[in-house]
Amino acid sequence: MSTALVILAAGKGTRMNSEMPKVLHQIANAPMLIHAMQSGAPLSPARTVIVAGHGFDDVKAAVEAHDPDASVVLQAEQKGTAHAVDAARAALADFDGDVIVLFGDTPFVQPETLERMVAARGENAVVVLGFDATDPGKYGRLVMHGDQLESIVEYADATDEQRTITFCNSGVMLADCKTLYALIDEIEANNAQDEYYLTDIVGIARARGLSVSAVACDEAETLGINSRLHLAQAEAVFQTRARIELMEMGVTLQQPETVMLSFDTVIGRDTVIEPNVYFGPGVTVESGAHIRAFSHLEGCHVSRGGVVGPYARLRPGTELAEDVRIGNFVEIKNAVLDEGAKVNHLTYIGDASIGAETNIGAGTITCNYDGVMKHKTTIGRNAFIGSNTMLVAPVTIGDKAMTASGSVITTNVPDDALALARAKQVNKPGLASKMFELLKLKKKKRDKGVE
Ligand code: UD1
Ligand code: MG
Repeated sequence: MSTALVILAAGKGTRMNSEMPKVLHQIANAPMLIHAMQSGAPLSPARTVIVAGHGFDDVKAAVEAHDPDASVVLQAEQKGTAHAVDAARAALADFDGDVIVLFGDTPFVQPETLERMVAARGENAVVVLGFDATDPGKYGRLVMHGDQLESIVEYADATDEQRTITFCNSGVMLADCKTLYALIDEIEANNAQDEYYLTDIVGIARARGLSVSAVACDEAETLGINSRLHLAQAEAVFQTRARIELMEMGVTLQQPETVMLSFDTVIGRDTVIEPNVYFGPGVTVESGAHIRAFSHLEGCHVSRGGVVGPYARLRPGTELAEDVRIGNFVEIKNAVLDEGAKVNHLTYIGDASIGAETNIGAGTITCNYDGVMKHKTTIGRNAFIGSNTMLVAPVTIGDKAMTASGSVITTNVPDDALALARAKQVNKPGLASKMFELLKLKKKKRDKGVE
């Protein structure tokens, strides 16, 4: 049976107090909506429909960047969760299969949980995901009768007795597409909030003699985000889970709670991560590497045996081949470093390629930007760039070439050549002590002047 995902994301999210639609706020550097899409992705949905309203264009752009096959439909006015699912009707008109409804602000539903719902569908027309709430608050309550779910009552409409129920509605539902829309057709908005409640399909299905079941999941999976505080809590949940996963996969995190990961961080076995390391989006680190304390990485690849940091910054487009060493206070952007290259101290390498085993001395700068355009620096293999060399791009340094410390290199250096590009030194014998005397005299005069 094929499955379609419908993700509700039209709400404003007033409590976020933001110009940005709620579902675009990020957890681990990806919009929470993308996390919700990821939960459903392992089911290989035949279709994914996002229902957007507030910030429609931005939501559409974010969805399309993540999955060009997903469709984004407009719910211009938010008249309730059933009204939202109804907005996806046209996009599913010719769809024959099951529909899973997810919320875009509930990013942690586990794929295994959705698989359990799919497995529970069988004879059931509708399957609802519930959870035992420690504090049921204002969640909709699941009214069970044996193994049948009889109805869902929203808190606002519940009796005192129903409010004592702790088995609550997560919002996730599964139903056959045709049945779902037939049930939605019967929903009316005569309730405390004058909304079309999707939850009403349960009572309607039961009244028709259809079978409805509830699958339970851990409360943590149903964590919904409504405020910045929730967002921070969700970030913490994600980070804790991701760190544990990495450790289980054989990565050493010396002080896990200080390491920040992104939704797509990949780190290989036996790599060691020291404290206070930040992984922005798009980072892959192979096995047996070592990322030292206080390093900041994004959009980069570190190969086996690489050592990065402490205090290194790898920016997008950085590709480090095996056994490359990047030391403290080194920034690298859009550059490929071949095997065994070393950039150990206080250096900026941008828009460059550096050959194998080349050593870049302390304080080297690739002057890649002329104020208007970016230019490339190419350095061969086994080269030696002396400390404090300015490489004014575009420039090419040959294999086994050398630059003298303090050089400002503006023209290409051939293979095996030594480039000296600095003022010649002059020594004046005995002039140091004379200079001191002169300066002391000057200071005395100045001090007197002040009195
Ligand atoms: C809903 C459930 C409630 C459940 C709770 C779990 C209903 C009627 N109630 O209540 O039983 O316990 O979630 O968190 O379904 N949305 C739209 N368009 C709309 C309305 C909502 O896209 O017209 C989206 C929202 O952006 C949000 C989601 O649907 O992502 C849920 O809506 P929300 O208003 O938060 O529903 P709750 O009142 O929390
Ligand atoms: Mg809600």
